[in-house]
Amino acid sequence: MAQKVWLVASQKGGVSKSVIAYALAENLAIPGTRVVLCDTDYPQFSTLTLAELRVQHGGDKLPFTVVPCKDTGEVGRKSKGFNHVVIDGAPHASQDTFHYANHADVVILPTRTAILDLTPNLELARSLEARGIPRDRMVFVLTQSPSKSETATARTILQYEGWAVLEQDLHFATSYSTAGDRGRTISEVRHPGLKYKAGRLLEQLLRR
Ligand SMILES: Nc1ncnc2c1ncn2[C@@H]1O[C@H](COP(=O)(O)OP(=O)(O)O)[C@@H](O)[C@H]1O
Ligand SMILES: [Mg+2]
Repeated sequence: MAQKVWLVASQKGGVSKSVIAYALAENLAIPGTRVVLCDTDYPQFSTLTLAELRVQHGGDKLPFTVVPCKDTGEVGRKSKGFNHVVIDGAPHASQDTFHYANHADVVILPTRTAILDLTPNLELARSLEARGIPRDRMVFVLTQSPSKSETATARTILQYEGWAVLEQDLHFATSYSTAGDRGRTISEVRHPGLKYKAGRLLEQLLRR
């Protein structure tokens, strides 16, 4: 099985990158598949914190490995031998972001729906394309939207420029962040409606 690389990146922080990367790794890790989540957001390493919280709260063992990576060399070394590599990017695109995007099969671009988030995240997508990353490798995910109308407006703006936007968004819900406080993924929330939506989002991502 060839290795598949997934990059979760954004220009703005706090747009649900880590939450999505953590859930994506969990959903990719079916039996017989080796998955590593490379957290490159030094020194925060949010997904390591999520993994630690999971242990503290007695959650089920994670079916994937989480590793902190300070640079591209570490990602290269620590991802050897895994079937899936999920890279949780740092905010503020850098040379490293382009390096990872170059090696990624799928570039996931989470963004909140306000113009102050959309504009820099769109700029990142444009600059990735300008550096040779094919548009069809990138997909936006709308996150933390407070309402359906804001989600729809943001979707229109992105699609008007021809960008792919995942059909299922991750609207703002306190249960998603409190799940994280216990080291759970968004698809492990108790609320059935929220669980369903997170499940759909992951399913759509897995199809890319
Ligand atoms: N859909 C959501 N609803 C509510 N809170 C969310 C949602 N997605 C993420 N969060 C919370 O927002 C914060 C930032 O998310 P995080 O994944 O760390 O962003 P990033 O990695 O892009 O900086 C975290 O506290 C997280 O729990
Ligand atoms: Mg993060």
